[in-house]
Amino acid sequence: MNQTVKFAVALLLSMTSTSIWAQWGAPRDPNPNIGLKDAYKNYFMVGVALNQRNVSDEDQKKLAIKEFSSITAENDMKPGELHPKEGVWNWEKADKIADFCRQNGIKLRGHCLCWHSQFADWMFTDKKGKEVKKEVFYERLREHIHTVVNRYKDIVYCWDVVNEAIEDNPRPTFANGKFTPGSPYRQSRHFKLCGDEFIAKAFEFAHEADPNALLFYNDYNECDPGKRDRIYDMVKKMQDAGVPIHGIGMQGHYNIYGPSEEDIDAAITKYSQLVKHIHVTELDIRVNQEMGGQLRFSRGENKPLAGYQNTMLTDQYNRIFKIFRKHKDVIDCVTLWNLSDRDSWLGVNNHPLPFDENYKPKQAYFAIKNFDTKLDNAKPKEDFRPNPCNQPGQDYPQVNSEGYARFRVEAPDAKSVIVSLGLGGRGGTVLRKDKDGVWVGTTEGPMDPGFHYYHLTIDGGVVNDPGTHNYFGSCRWESGIEIPAPDQDFYACRQDIPHGTITQVLYPSKSTGKMQTAMVYLPPTYGKLVDKKGLPVKEGKAGLLERFPVLYLQHGWGENETSWGKQGHAGLIMDNLIADGKIKPFIIVMAYGLTNDFKFGTIGQFTAKEFETLLVDELVPFIDANYLTKADKWNRAMAGLSMGGMETKLITLRRPEVFGYWGLLSGGTYMPDDIKDPSAVRVIFESCGDKENPDGIKKSVEALKAAGYDATGFISEGTAHEFLTWRRSLREMAPLLFQAPEK
Ligand code: XIL
Repeated sequence: MNQTVKFAVALLLSMTSTSIWAQWGAPRDPNPNIGLKDAYKNYFMVGVALNQRNVSDEDQKKLAIKEFSSITAENDMKPGELHPKEGVWNWEKADKIADFCRQNGIKLRGHCLCWHSQFADWMFTDKKGKEVKKEVFYERLREHIHTVVNRYKDIVYCWDVVNEAIEDNPRPTFANGKFTPGSPYRQSRHFKLCGDEFIAKAFEFAHEADPNALLFYNDYNECDPGKRDRIYDMVKKMQDAGVPIHGIGMQGHYNIYGPSEEDIDAAITKYSQLVKHIHVTELDIRVNQEMGGQLRFSRGENKPLAGYQNTMLTDQYNRIFKIFRKHKDVIDCVTLWNLSDRDSWLGVNNHPLPFDENYKPKQAYFAIKNFDTKLDNAKPKEDFRPNPCNQPGQDYPQVNSEGYARFRVEAPDAKSVIVSLGLGGRGGTVLRKDKDGVWVGTTEGPMDPGFHYYHLTIDGGVVNDPGTHNYFGSCRWESGIEIPAPDQDFYACRQDIPHGTITQVLYPSKSTGKMQTAMVYLPPTYGKLVDKKGLPVKEGKAGLLERFPVLYLQHGWGENETSWGKQGHAGLIMDNLIADGKIKPFIIVMAYGLTNDFKFGTIGQFTAKEFETLLVDELVPFIDANYLTKADKWNRAMAGLSMGGMETKLITLRRPEVFGYWGLLSGGTYMPDDIKDPSAVRVIFESCGDKENPDGIKKSVEALKAAGYDATGFISEGTAHEFLTWRRSLREMAPLLFQAPEK
């Protein structure tokens, strides 16, 4: 995190409840005491592949016991490890894993009995090194399978009997004018000796040894439509011939870019036509573009997980587990291939697992565990419309009547496109290429109503969405989107009423050594002649120029003087309140509050001193000299949102002679002890969203009232630390300003 963002986060934390973190993407766990296995108890077992280090380390053992209900030995039960030579058996490591399972009541998946790799290759040759006949091979394989299966019968509930016997890319041949399709089978030593009969034999031997064990065919790239069909055809052929194949193991060696949900869903659906049991046997999601179980792969660059990769990783785990949950009827176990990134066979720099190299949960872990069943079946209503913030002629982004947002971005050569807007804690919405090669995606659920900043991250680089207008927030011009709010009429741009103006003014500032900018809202009647009662006079009649009170209204961290007028709709809110007779007109001055470029250490050292000088000693006199203002403290208010609220609090308390009305919008609270002179202020207004820290506001307002202050609290329904909270706050605060009787 850079310093500025760190500061902002500290600021937000100091003011709001932890729910704000959800918006800021920091992982949080509402269920820290339960493990993945518990979260999925109504779905399927969640398993993990363990190595010897894992079962020798107390902390790692604890983690495995907490999180997982099924274990696979990563290597220790493979034929080459257990049975390296005829008559030589190495049981120690496999026994250690089996004993760990026995001691902790965790089920053990047997992996694996027959594979082209890490195999007992001695089975293929005689003492002289000559290839044996297939009958000899079968005898040896049978003895191997019987011995291993019998030894672990009490604890192993299923076996990967045959592993990876199907070809990745069968190559057709063309010879003598004849086209021969490539073999669907991997051209392994097993296959070359026995044809596909070895598959049948292995299953038969395993079934003889333990008729109660579930027997699996296991493979990788199992979602690739071609390989999927080859696997399907092989299993079907075997089953039709009476071979006891009960389940299909989908290894699940994926990456952050794929496979697509469609391909995963289609593979599960297809396999479920053949078997009642599907296990995802070796799930991991690497951050490069490689995929599959091939034993040659790059081990990742020596880099920490980049933010956008973390978002992609979280998203991919989230999508995949959603599909798994949908297929819980046929999926009965999902196993992660290794306990943490540190253990991963892909290398720590591929960052493929939900636990990082320090065995700490990553964002992906929280997404997997804390799933929301409502979202699993949610389908947005297809009434999406172009968003009001869009640039002319742009159809996207779109928003539907429920508050879902849909994005469409053209970036033909990009590898990844992420929209920073999405459900809390996930880091945004990851777009996927549609059939036309355009990046599309819809938020996983409805967004909070109101205005949201966002940007795109394309292959790790941040850019704006060319579909929308830009709004100053997070110290940059961000894309913006507006989710319709139930009460949006109060900031609508109405045709039937007069409108005021918002103009930019430049004012000289000695303290900062340059011209500074402020935006000034003037009500519709500003500059018009009125009679003594303040009513407009007929044209040609004599009258007075009315003078107005002034609200100095501050933006938050990362924003500037344009924010309240543009995304805050302060002018429209005022015009509507004035037209509806709810307030007497006043001026609003919105200055840049120096929030983005001051030097700071910690939040405690933030004094707002520079801005106090700029505001009180330079801007206020400038405004009073150049506008028709009522230039006294009882006609001057100061309010601010978020960090602008902090500025307001500091400055109003230090300079009570300047401002008579004070407002803090998601920007902290006053306590009676803060205020030295009770007659310094006529009205205090404090507010926040109900997803922030409403209790803080309630407590403060109660205390202020008890101490005799005219204090009002307002809690915005269904909103967090964002502009709908502050638009509503302005609507609620404006009628209270400049109205209180003299004390
Ligand atoms: C891998 C192990 O994780 C590595 O430690 C070992 O060096 C090679 O095998 N498909 C499988 C697993 O079925 O057994 C493989 O495990 C990964 C691919």
